[in-house]
Amino acid sequence: MYTPAIKFEEDTLQIIDQSLLPGKFKYISLSNLDDSITAIKELKVRGAPAIGIVAAYTMYLQAKQLIGKSSDIFIRELNIFSALLSEARPTAVNLAWAIKRIKLIYQKKSIESISNIVNQIKQEAIKIHEEDRIACEKMGENGLTVVPDPCTVLTHCNTGSLATGGWGTALGIIYAAKESGREVKVFVDETRPLGQGARLTFWELIQNNIPCTLITDSTAGSLMKSGKIDLVLFGADRIAENGDVANKIGSYSVAALAYLNKIPCYAVAPTSTFDLSIKTGKNIPIEKRSPQEILHIYGYNFNLPEVATVYNPAFDVTPGNYLTGIITEAGIINRPSKKTVAEIVIPFLKEKK
Ligand code: MRU
Repeated sequence: MYTPAIKFEEDTLQIIDQSLLPGKFKYISLSNLDDSITAIKELKVRGAPAIGIVAAYTMYLQAKQLIGKSSDIFIRELNIFSALLSEARPTAVNLAWAIKRIKLIYQKKSIESISNIVNQIKQEAIKIHEEDRIACEKMGENGLTVVPDPCTVLTHCNTGSLATGGWGTALGIIYAAKESGREVKVFVDETRPLGQGARLTFWELIQNNIPCTLITDSTAGSLMKSGKIDLVLFGADRIAENGDVANKIGSYSVAALAYLNKIPCYAVAPTSTFDLSIKTGKNIPIEKRSPQEILHIYGYNFNLPEVATVYNPAFDVTPGNYLTGIITEAGIINRPSKKTVAEIVIPFLKEKK
């Protein structure tokens, strides 16, 4: 049903270059660390789970090049690569999470040959990819319970097949609703400044023949107030222990407006997006991006004087108590709090080990 954003075949890593969509659909190859870091920074690949998957495959491609080196050099080089990759984007925890899984393999003290360890890294990267595909399906299944029929959903940013290893998180629920025969319509927030809604979600929904209407971000509030929205679904880049959710800038406004208008509002994310080492959203690092992302469309193609500045955070944090719930592959966390997050996430992660 969906076009995969990431393909790994015959040791070749390819991604859809999302910076070109919707004008141009093109797969590009990522052959080494530099290619992947550039692709992640320039949002050719984006979305928390997708970034993690690409990072895992990249670690494999780099590890493969070190076959024949001593064990010390192998570990030292991979540590340098993982640090550089982790810094590519700071907010989405899936990046650091996937790299940590790869690290657990190559850093273990063992007498195994380097080529054996490289093969294990490859298997782990494939597993991370496949686990995300399955998690997306499960989130779709779990999320169906909150989708009335008919249903008009409002969504922010892009959380579909472009952003994950499967059919998506929040968009996955919309695809699941359509597959189950429900009548579902979607209002798509433009998602300024880079238009992940207008360029990517709108494109995905059109590809999947799902009725959709594009709106500017500032239209969401009045639509909610006029009773046109039944459900709000968006994704997450990092979720703190207490259920605070970092996601694309503007998600907080959407959640606050849903709260005010008593509309159910859910963040949808796999358990790989939880960072239980972080107590609250205040501790989540928020990426600041270039002023040019905002300025260029207004014709400011020159350096601003000191008196004028631009503030362009890529993410914001929605307090967990503004959300009706968080939908994960492990189940739905109702009324997110430290207690409800722990009840769903911790037993699931323990069982997975
Ligand atoms: O800057 P982006 O496009 O990587 O931001 C993406 C988001 O905020 C998504 O909502 C999030 O990563 C979840 S994707 C399933």
